[in-house]
Amino acid sequence: MTIIPVSGQAFAPYDVVVGRGLLASAGERIAPLTRGRTVIISDRTVADLHGPALARSLEAAGVQTQIVAVPPGEGSKSFAELERVLDRLLEAGLDRKDVVVALGGGVVGDLAGLAAALYMRGIDFVQVPTTLLAQVDSSVGGKTAIDTPRGKNLVGAFHQPRLVLADIDVLATLPAQQVRSGWAEVLKHGLICDAPFFDWLAGPGAAGAKGDPAALEWAVIRSVEIKSAVVGEDEKEAGRRALLNLGHTFGHAIETALGFEEAALAHGEAVALGCALALRYSVREGLCPAADAERAEAVIAAAGLPTRLSQAGTFGADQLLALMAGDKKAEGGALTLILARGIGQAFVAKGVDAASVRSFLIEEGAKA
Ligand code: GLY
Repeated sequence: MTIIPVSGQAFAPYDVVVGRGLLASAGERIAPLTRGRTVIISDRTVADLHGPALARSLEAAGVQTQIVAVPPGEGSKSFAELERVLDRLLEAGLDRKDVVVALGGGVVGDLAGLAAALYMRGIDFVQVPTTLLAQVDSSVGGKTAIDTPRGKNLVGAFHQPRLVLADIDVLATLPAQQVRSGWAEVLKHGLICDAPFFDWLAGPGAAGAKGDPAALEWAVIRSVEIKSAVVGEDEKEAGRRALLNLGHTFGHAIETALGFEEAALAHGEAVALGCALALRYSVREGLCPAADAERAEAVIAAAGLPTRLSQAGTFGADQLLALMAGDKKAEGGALTLILARGIGQAFVAKGVDAASVRSFLIEEGAKA
């Protein structure tokens, strides 16, 4: 078991605990944070798989527990589900000294975290992430949000958890596509700032993409270390935190063009493709050696993740560009992209020329 502290100037420090069998001992860790009552927010699939074990552990530690399950899928990041969850918290009679527990993937963490941020003007919450993507990314750092018809994550709050429990054992029940999807965010961390970690992911660590628990454990630990250092420095994404969006501006545009609900491409698959595109665009602009982009592409592809637009679908260059410019990371109409000078050397590029991105997208197979 490894404990990674997360601390920053503007929020209370908390621990991310990574290890095996953590669900069974979760009650002992969560009980001291409560006054003896909690509501677990989960989705119906995860609630069936892991809800009883977590509830048993909490009850054994003397914590009265209820489970509120939302439908699985991105559709639950809605005003309607947020209202329903808040109503259930009111019905349960939680007060400001109680805690909410988010048991699930990114959707549940984002929704439960936002509900906790709003409930009684903010109560504590604990993240128990059950997907690889949530363990290495969304459960750490306090971003919470719901979607609106105008886009993803447009209504939310920064609300840091009190504790994160990342149990590697729960990853064993994940479908292969979800492991690969989380793996994309792991690769992203190496590409951003840790070339030796990327070397490990390209070598012995590659077993993690196929579900090897020992490789997964180290991949989660190192990813959380990287993310916690970035978040500690820049909680509100005024600067360095934007690096964590490597692959996301291209990726979000591709996801939006495909339609999230069709789930044609998992979020991590879009991020993987986005990372490959960001590195190749960096090469095109003379910023990055071609060999680094080729190696990144080979490692991403070896994990079973897409690296080419044609693997995701058919896109118009103008359609993708408009979606990229509409991304909430765009400032004053200028395109902001995370680019790289090499593996492990990402940087924030502001004022990127939209015409050159359009030409690049056409070279990559988008329709003119
Ligand atoms: N997923 C990017 C961030 O948390 O900032």
